[in-house]
Amino acid sequence: MEKLEVFGANTLKGQVRISGSKNASLPILAATLLSDKKIHLSNLPNVKDIATMLLLLKSLDTKIEYIKNKKLVSIKNNKKNKKFVSYSLVKTMRAGILVLGPLLARYSKAKVSLPGGCAIGTRPIDIHLKALSKLGVIYKISKGYVHANAPKGLVGAKIKFPKISVGATENLIIAACLAKGKTILSNCAIEPEIKDLVNFLNKMGCKIKWIGKRTVKILGVKKLNEVNYKIMFDRIEAGTYLIAAAITKGKIKILGINPKIIKTEIDILKKIGAKIKLKNNNVFIQGNKKINSININTAPYPGFPTDLQAQMMVLLCKANKRSVISEKIFENRFMHVSELNRMGAKIKIKGNRAIIEGNTKFEGAELMATDLRASVSLILAALTSKNKSIINRIYHLDRGYEKIETKLKKIGAKIKRLA
Ligand code: UD1
Repeated sequence: MEKLEVFGANTLKGQVRISGSKNASLPILAATLLSDKKIHLSNLPNVKDIATMLLLLKSLDTKIEYIKNKKLVSIKNNKKNKKFVSYSLVKTMRAGILVLGPLLARYSKAKVSLPGGCAIGTRPIDIHLKALSKLGVIYKISKGYVHANAPKGLVGAKIKFPKISVGATENLIIAACLAKGKTILSNCAIEPEIKDLVNFLNKMGCKIKWIGKRTVKILGVKKLNEVNYKIMFDRIEAGTYLIAAAITKGKIKILGINPKIIKTEIDILKKIGAKIKLKNNNVFIQGNKKINSININTAPYPGFPTDLQAQMMVLLCKANKRSVISEKIFENRFMHVSELNRMGAKIKIKGNRAIIEGNTKFEGAELMATDLRASVSLILAALTSKNKSIINRIYHLDRGYEKIETKLKKIGAKIKRLA
């Protein structure tokens, strides 16, 4: 099994180009099932989760052609797709459940494996299912699968989500695009990736309009067009490299992003002491010697993203005083804490709060990655420690970070993949 070897304690300097967003690509790929017209997608990141989603689409008989080193993908569905998604395709990647909405919209029938739990919590799909039932879907869960059908096809409805959910908002927006009549969804997640999905769907001929901060109106359509679409940048990857600069007191220019989208993260990094300059599609960051402590709550967008919580925790271990992070999205997302404590951090967990003592000098160790963002937080800690760290189970990392060793090496990190 592959591992990473990291030697740290050097300042990162240079430029990093940010890849396309994994979390925008996944729902957009699922949404391609709505149409039998040609779809060209560019700026897809070359990461494992995208490869898994493409495999999943292939298993449904979608034709996929890679052009230009997997960065541009041409997708074409026949008049008919298969409607069955097996456990083997959903078990490593929960986003597989996003094909439920489009399959039901187009064929009124689908059998999709339940994603099951994962390292960061139980992650149910009850909100997706209850909302789909309001569009006319009847479902039962049996032997680990959702068996769903819509006897009269999907019919538009007014739905208020009981809780803000990124995946449920995406599934329902996609499903409503082909439903009869009008759907109004309120209490929606408004992550930038959802806005990207909506832009893609509208470009394809769907009729979706934001009519309130968290309310969206969708008029069902019958015909869709061919479409070329460029996926947005990965804001979590961008945030990770900004934190890497702050942690190593480095100077990094982050290229290919829209700074407005990551305003919350930029404001927090400024409060912590980093110097930041914004320019069109770039951000320049210079880490400060003194890192100020701060208290942070994770929250749905535009709040601080849970997907950057582990990385931010490593930075706060280096702060001048105690900080507190409250995890408000996933109850169990502190798997990285025990590994960080093994490296010398002093972090205590109380319920959904992590109390982080500052002034940590990380010491390299042999470590175990437990989920995607936890893995990268271990790299960040290892980058500040003089001795060697070995990080095991990096397949988690490969799910979502494109060419991470290459990008980090280019800005001066001593990092190597071991077979
Ligand atoms: C997405 C992101 C993930 C990110 C998360 C929160 C993708 C592929 N994944 O995950 O990286 O960490 O948003 O920003 O985009 N919930 C329920 N019932 C449901 C659905 C969700 O109780 O039916 C709960 C979850 O357990 C969690 C909260 O709602 O506590 C938010 O989850 P959700 O926004 O749905 O996350 P995902 O879409 O799975």
